[in-house]
Amino acid sequence: MSTSIQTPILIVGSGLAGLSLALKLAEQGFKVSVLSKRKIETGSTRWAQGGIAAVLSEEDSFASHVDDTILAGVNLNHRETVEFVVRNGPDVIQWLIDQGTEFTRENEQYHLTREGGHAHRRIIHAADATGHAVHETLASRCDRHANISLYESHVAIDLITSRKLGLPGTNRCLGLYALNIDNGEVITFKAGRVVLATGGCSKVYLYTSNPDTSTGDGIAMAWRAGCSIGNLEFNQFHPTCLYHPHAKSFLITEAVRGEGGKLLLANGEPFMARHDERGELAPRDIVARAIDYEIKKSGDDCVYLDISHRSPEFIKTHFPNIYKRCLKFGLDMTKEPLPVVPAAHFTCGGIYTDLKARTDLAQLYAIGECTFTGLHGANRLASNSLLECLVFADAAFKDMQKNRESIEIASQPLPDWDESQVSDPDEQIVVSHNWDELRRFMWDYVGIVRTDKRLERAMHRIDLLQAEIREYYSNFRVNGDLIELRNLVMVAELIVRSAMQRKESRGLHYTLDYPDLLPDAQKRDTLLSH
Ligand code: FAD
Ligand code: SIN
Repeated sequence: MSTSIQTPILIVGSGLAGLSLALKLAEQGFKVSVLSKRKIETGSTRWAQGGIAAVLSEEDSFASHVDDTILAGVNLNHRETVEFVVRNGPDVIQWLIDQGTEFTRENEQYHLTREGGHAHRRIIHAADATGHAVHETLASRCDRHANISLYESHVAIDLITSRKLGLPGTNRCLGLYALNIDNGEVITFKAGRVVLATGGCSKVYLYTSNPDTSTGDGIAMAWRAGCSIGNLEFNQFHPTCLYHPHAKSFLITEAVRGEGGKLLLANGEPFMARHDERGELAPRDIVARAIDYEIKKSGDDCVYLDISHRSPEFIKTHFPNIYKRCLKFGLDMTKEPLPVVPAAHFTCGGIYTDLKARTDLAQLYAIGECTFTGLHGANRLASNSLLECLVFADAAFKDMQKNRESIEIASQPLPDWDESQVSDPDEQIVVSHNWDELRRFMWDYVGIVRTDKRLERAMHRIDLLQAEIREYYSNFRVNGDLIELRNLVMVAELIVRSAMQRKESRGLHYTLDYPDLLPDAQKRDTLLSH
């Protein structure tokens, strides 16, 4: 018999979404378990640079933040969600400050930086390593909390639902199976409520700013469990990742452009004004597409980002980590432009949730980058993601607090993970080959610029990979790589299916076959349901 663990609340993911919810619940006496597939610090949150958008100055207003979010999202955003998130912004920032997060100050005030698409300075930050500062603060508090049990190196495999077990009544989530990657054991977690906080799926692309954990596990698990998935065709490409053979996934924050950085061609010519009147501060989809266009036109490998006109002191104070990291690669940003390229950065769509962070499967919540809340529309506004994590973690907390009495662990036993029909894998090459192949064709065919033909080609390959992985999965014992590959192929299919349904170009979904926006009357989300 394998190990079974019971817990009132099980949170999958130890990023900003997962940890902020865990802390809030724990503070109110809930017993919480948190799964993290690697160490507590792995995930996109630690890597976040620029900061968190919120209305924090007298000159700014909720209406302006709402307008900027909807303008960047090309009007596909759900206004109710945008207003909900924006209005809760100042409170959740205050909560982070109360936890001990040290944000950058200037003249006794918090320094607010600017990023693309924002009409005001509204990004609170900790120099150029905001994610690290925030996560470090929360992780150290969680680590010491008696009500939080942390399970590192535990990869959630699949949700257990009443329907899968053939139980009567509304379909509901009863727990999940997770692999302990240190000893290979699959554990059954039985929970009163499960929360997916698993981050995005940008690893489905060959080039990405994201850590290895962003493999869309939560989105794939939710889909397999019967949840609806929304707007997954909107994959955000960050315009400026460092282009250097040894700089895997290193982002150059948008705040560099916010503080005056210029984009240049190899010959030193600026080009953004040709693409948008807001120049370097146009929303991300526009800047990334402009760079993609210029790179393809010139045949160069990259473009350049130049902030060397600002004083070395300013650069070193505002971007200390980027400065030091680039110096290691032999690039001195106080003296020369940095070579940059776009890379997959953020998943705007995901698991459909309401404003209480509830999915359409009872007893299952989802928060953070794995969700589709309606906030981002067709393109996320810079620094709205950490904000979304905080606001929806708070919403989930409040909903659980309100319904505290109803949170109970089901009495019926859950079946153990069945390994009776599988053996150890004969070779790993199938997994590593398919992983590489998938990420390359997703980049080539489902990237910044799409066509019907490219999407069809991608889908054809996905079908082949799905069949091969399904067979491998049913014959061999699971391991971390196989679980992630199975999920990546699943989300790739959902991305392509969503992209095929959108017969227009809007925000991050740009297709040469339908280059125009559909009229407002035909505006709709892409909702995939079973
Ligand atoms: P993550 O922080 O990605 O955490 C996901 C967690 O889930 C991890 O702990 C992971 O191990 C765990 N997990 C995943 N699958 C499983 C599984 N199967 N089993 C168990 N655990 C699992 N946004 C901003 O708003 N401002 C910024 O300045 C900013 N800068 C960024 C810079 C970079 C380089 C990157 C990559 C992103 C940036 N973003 C920024 C986006 C933002 O960081 C993320 O959207 C946000 O941190 C997501 O938080 P999360 O908690 O949803 O997920
Ligand atoms: C950045 O610092 O450029 C990233 C900000 C974000 O992803 O919101």
